[in-house]
Amino acid sequence: MRLCRKLGETTLSDILDQLDERRKQARLGGGERRIESQHAKGKLTARERLELLLDPGSFEEFDMFVTHRSTDFGMEKNKMAGDGVVTGWGTINGRKTFVFAQDFTVFGGSLSETHAKKINKVQEMAMRHGAPIIGLQDSGGARIQEGVAALAGYTDVFQNNILASGVIPQISVIMGPSAGGAVYSPALTDFIFMVRDSSYMFLTGPDVLKTVTNEVVTAEELGGAKTHTSKSSVADGAYDNDMQALSEIRRLFDFLPLNNRSGVPSRPFYDEHDRIDESLNTLVPDNPNIPYDMKELVTKLADEGDFFEIQQDFAKNILCGFIRLEGQTVGVVANQPMVLAGCLDSDASRKAARFVRFCDCFEIPILTLVDVPGFLPGTSQEYGGVIKHGAKLLYAFGEATVPKVTVITRKAYGGAYCVMAPKHLRGDINYAWPSAQIAVMGAKGAVEILHRKDLGDPEKIAAHTADYEEKFLSPFRAAERGYIDEVIQPQSTRKRVCRALALAKDKKLENPWKKHGNLPL
Ligand code: HXC
Repeated sequence: MRLCRKLGETTLSDILDQLDERRKQARLGGGERRIESQHAKGKLTARERLELLLDPGSFEEFDMFVTHRSTDFGMEKNKMAGDGVVTGWGTINGRKTFVFAQDFTVFGGSLSETHAKKINKVQEMAMRHGAPIIGLQDSGGARIQEGVAALAGYTDVFQNNILASGVIPQISVIMGPSAGGAVYSPALTDFIFMVRDSSYMFLTGPDVLKTVTNEVVTAEELGGAKTHTSKSSVADGAYDNDMQALSEIRRLFDFLPLNNRSGVPSRPFYDEHDRIDESLNTLVPDNPNIPYDMKELVTKLADEGDFFEIQQDFAKNILCGFIRLEGQTVGVVANQPMVLAGCLDSDASRKAARFVRFCDCFEIPILTLVDVPGFLPGTSQEYGGVIKHGAKLLYAFGEATVPKVTVITRKAYGGAYCVMAPKHLRGDINYAWPSAQIAVMGAKGAVEILHRKDLGDPEKIAAHTADYEEKFLSPFRAAERGYIDEVIQPQSTRKRVCRALALAKDKKLENPWKKHGNLPL
């Protein structure tokens, strides 16, 4: 086609110039002044963020010229190309993903009817094409000038979040404000990450709180990254700035399947599958009451020691996160004896249950490392509904049909034994270290109940305790019944787990037909 072909008075070359000009304008969003103000807050613009998130040159933008349709409050004279959100798709280390990034320089990134439609389009494409969606949120909420049209737009986004759940991974990164009902889109996604000091999430802001409840808090205290990663558990991780957040999202993305049918990604690994680690033989201290760091075991098992931890600042008595074994993603759930002696409580149960369900949705095998003295006793736990919360984890492990490999390193007592992916919850391969103790409870508690009449006689109590320890505080009672498939040497755990996962790779297990189960929410 010749560029100088005439179209009326305008040449095609003029049209191409106009296209360039319109693109240039659109890329400027709300203009230089607002971009400077965004930078002054330590924040990048939507397009700068997408450049860092995606592989160089891979971003394909949609709907760059979409504008709002509002005519109230003089809005018809105030239109900006893109309408406050940049949408499209690109790749992360060569694997495709759909993205949207709210542009705070355009109407404060607020969500209008058309802004929502742009997000809906990429959500639907992501589901259709079987690729994850990553939303970078930086928005003043519903576009105030649009009223119910904006609320309708939000609800359409929520509906798509719900439909996409369990079909494609959905990741939200909060990189500015996220307030009011707007928080529910991230809350419906699989993971939420926040940027420290520049992002916050709350349903009702500090001003409303002051009026209604007379509480005085800053936005940071109410809904900053620290609050949501350590108190509320709304967020799964926090990073110091936009650049760090985006590079960590790339790291997480590499662990995730593209959709619920793709299987886990596989990548070259530079680690022996049968690597022996003799230091593991002395990881568990001789004294059963002395803690050790379970994270050491996780990183020593993982390919190249790479562990992407989820919710590392919340319910630290349980560890959840992704590793790779022989290049393939595995979800790890592990009691952490360093915190609350590794007891399960309401928070730990909820945290792990959600993680297990994510893994099961996306066919990620689960490795469970067990050292749990039981559920944490106390009125605060009982009043807080630990029964229901513990049941969530039980339910999650029990319904999961992905390969499940469990290693009991030390204690597996009582109800917590039943919950932590035992054979009876359709565990595929269940190992125990020789240091494992599988029993209804520890020796002290058991002897106090069984031999109450001898409590005044220390010698008798010592004899009863030794007897109980010999009988029950070992892996062999469970192994004799086949509840433990094998007692393994700690040093060869990586090799044994890799072999077990290789075995379970093609497993076929289905739950009975149902519309959906009734998880104890
Ligand atoms: C339209 C908005 C907007 C909004 C901000 N802007 N929020 N425009 N609708 N919701 C515009 C501002 O007018 C301004 O335009 C620009 O964005 C930047 O805003 P500033 O206030 O200058 O920025 P800053 O000082 O950083 O404060 C950011 C803010 C504040 C804290 C987010 O703007 C704010 O409080 N906005 C309103 C938040 C809110 O109440 N939203 C509704 C929540 S309820 P100019 O032209 O000057 O650049 C909700 C319901 C959802 O969202 C329900 C779903 C079910």
